[in-house]
Amino acid sequence: MTLEKDNLWYKDAVIYQLHVRTFSDSNADGIGDFAGLTQRLDYLEELGITAIWLLPFYPSPLRDDGYDIADYTSVHASYGSLEDFKTFLAEAHRRGLRIIIEMVLNHTSDQHPWFREARSSRENPRRDWYVWSETDTRYQGVPIVFVDTETSNWAWDPISKSYYWHRFFSHQPDLNFDNPAVFEAVWEVMKFWLNLGVDGFRLDAVAYLVEREGTLCENLPETHAIIRELRKRLDLAYPGAMLLAEANQWPADVRAYFGDGDEFHAAFHFPLMPRMFMAVKLEDRKPIIEILDQTPEIPESCQWFIFLRNHDELTLEMVTDVERDYMYDEYATDKTMRINRGIRRRLAPMMDNDRRQIELLNGLLMSMPGTPIVYYGDEIGMGDNIYLGDRNGVRTPMQWNSALNAGFSLADPERLYAPVISNAVYGYQAVNADSQKRSEHSLLRWMKSLLQVRNAFQVFSRGTIQFLNPSNHRVLAYMRQFGEETVLVVNNLSSSAQAVELDVQRYKGYIPIEMFGRNLFPRFGNSPYLLTLGPYQFYWFQLRRI
Ligand code: NOJ
Ligand code: CA
Repeated sequence: MTLEKDNLWYKDAVIYQLHVRTFSDSNADGIGDFAGLTQRLDYLEELGITAIWLLPFYPSPLRDDGYDIADYTSVHASYGSLEDFKTFLAEAHRRGLRIIIEMVLNHTSDQHPWFREARSSRENPRRDWYVWSETDTRYQGVPIVFVDTETSNWAWDPISKSYYWHRFFSHQPDLNFDNPAVFEAVWEVMKFWLNLGVDGFRLDAVAYLVEREGTLCENLPETHAIIRELRKRLDLAYPGAMLLAEANQWPADVRAYFGDGDEFHAAFHFPLMPRMFMAVKLEDRKPIIEILDQTPEIPESCQWFIFLRNHDELTLEMVTDVERDYMYDEYATDKTMRINRGIRRRLAPMMDNDRRQIELLNGLLMSMPGTPIVYYGDEIGMGDNIYLGDRNGVRTPMQWNSALNAGFSLADPERLYAPVISNAVYGYQAVNADSQKRSEHSLLRWMKSLLQVRNAFQVFSRGTIQFLNPSNHRVLAYMRQFGEETVLVVNNLSSSAQAVELDVQRYKGYIPIEMFGRNLFPRFGNSPYLLTLGPYQFYWFQLRRI
C-alpha cells in the first residue's frame, strides 16, 4: 500500500497514538527511539490503523514529557536523529500510514533559547516573545489547569525581576501571539516539518494562544484569527496537510475552531469521552445522546476526532460537578488514581479487565461519528501504574512479549525510562502483543477484526447518525447512513441480558446482515423489530434491500 492522494484522508483515518519513548528501544539504553518504532511498523499496519499520532519528540528537559519544547526543529537525542525520523516517515508512508506530529504553539520550555534570551534583560529583542507583567494580578479568574501543582498562572522570574504568564507548568512560559514575530517563527517551524513530509499537526492547548484582560483568556477572536492565517498558508503551500485542535471545551465552543471550514480540519470531541464511560456505569444511554444532541453540525470538510483514553488523565473538565463526583466514585475509588481534574488510568483496568466492557467501549469508539484514536497498548488491554507520579502511569513501556522488559528493551530493567507493568493480571507475561497474535480469541485479534469491518465501510467515518428511541434505556441504538450504505448499531450498555424493540418502519423490507459473521437476520417487517442482547453485547448490522 502507498499513500493515496486524498485531501480528506483524516476523515477516513483510524489513528494510533503513541510516544516514541514508550514503544520500542533499538539500542538498549532503556528509552524507545525512532529506529525501534520503525521496526514495529508492520505490527501497526497489520492492526489496521491508517495514521500515527506521535507525542512530542523534540529536544526538551522532559518536565512535561516533551510538551516543554527546547528546540522545535530537531529530535531529542534519546529518540535518535533527524535522519532516523526521516527514515521512519518514509517507512510509514511506504505502508500507507500517515504521520501526525505535535506542535505546541502556546508555550515553550523555559530552557528554549527564545525564553533564555527573553528573560536575560528587559531590552532583549526577544523580550516581547513572552507575556510579562510587573504584577501577578492581571487576568484574574483565568482557571489553572494543573491544579495539583500550580497555584497561579504567573511565575516570578528572578533574572529579569518580573512575572511571566503560563497556563500550564511554571516551566512552560506562554508565547506572546500579539507579537507577529512569534507567529512567523512558529510558521517557519511548521514549514520545516511539512517540507519533510509530515501529514498533519495536533495543535496543543490551542484555546489559550491569546490573553485579554476581563476574559478567561480562552477561545478569543484573536486566537481564531491566528488559526485562520495558519490555515490559509497551509492550504496554499501544503494542501492535504491537516490541523487537529486540542481544545478541551464544550462542543459549542469547539465548533468555532472549524470556522467556515477555514480553521481546523479536525478537533477532539472531549465531552463525549467521559460520557461513554458514564453511560456504561449508569447502564443508560442518556449521557451519550444528550452530548451528541448538543453537538453542532460542522462544515463538510471537517471531522470530530474521538477517543477513549490518551496519554493524559481521563479529563473531567467537560462534565458537571455531580458527574465528576460520579466518575470519581465509580472509576477512581483509590485517590491515587486521581490527578488534577481527572483519572490517571488505562482502559482495561477501568473496565476491571472485563473483556465484554472493553469490547463494548471499543465498539462505540469505532461506530460513533468521527475519526477514532486508539491509545497504544489499549489494543492488548495493557494495565497502568498509578504510583508513578504525574500521568506517567499510563505511559509505561509497550508490552511486546514475555521476554526481558516485555520485549521493549534489552537494557537492564533498572535502566528503563519507566518500569514495565509486571503484576499478575496486567504484567507483560500475561498481557503482550506476541501471545495475543497467537491466540485466535485475544483482544488484539478481536481489535483487528473490528478495524477490518470499520475500514471496509465508509459509513462509519462519513455517515450521519440518527438515534432510535426504544423504551429500554439500557440499549443505545443508532442508524449510520452514507450514500448507499446504512448501518444499524445496537449496544447493550448493561451488565445483564436485555431485550429491545426497535422502530425500524422506515427500513421496512430491508434485511439486516450482522457485519462480523455476515449472517442474515430476519427481515424488517411491520411490527417493532425485536432483538435480544447479552451483557454488554453489541451488534452492527448492514441493511440490505434484497
Ligand atoms: C495537553 C497535553 O495533552 C498535555 O500532556 C500537556 O501536559 C499540556 N497540553 C501542556 O502542553
Ligand atoms: Ca533507545
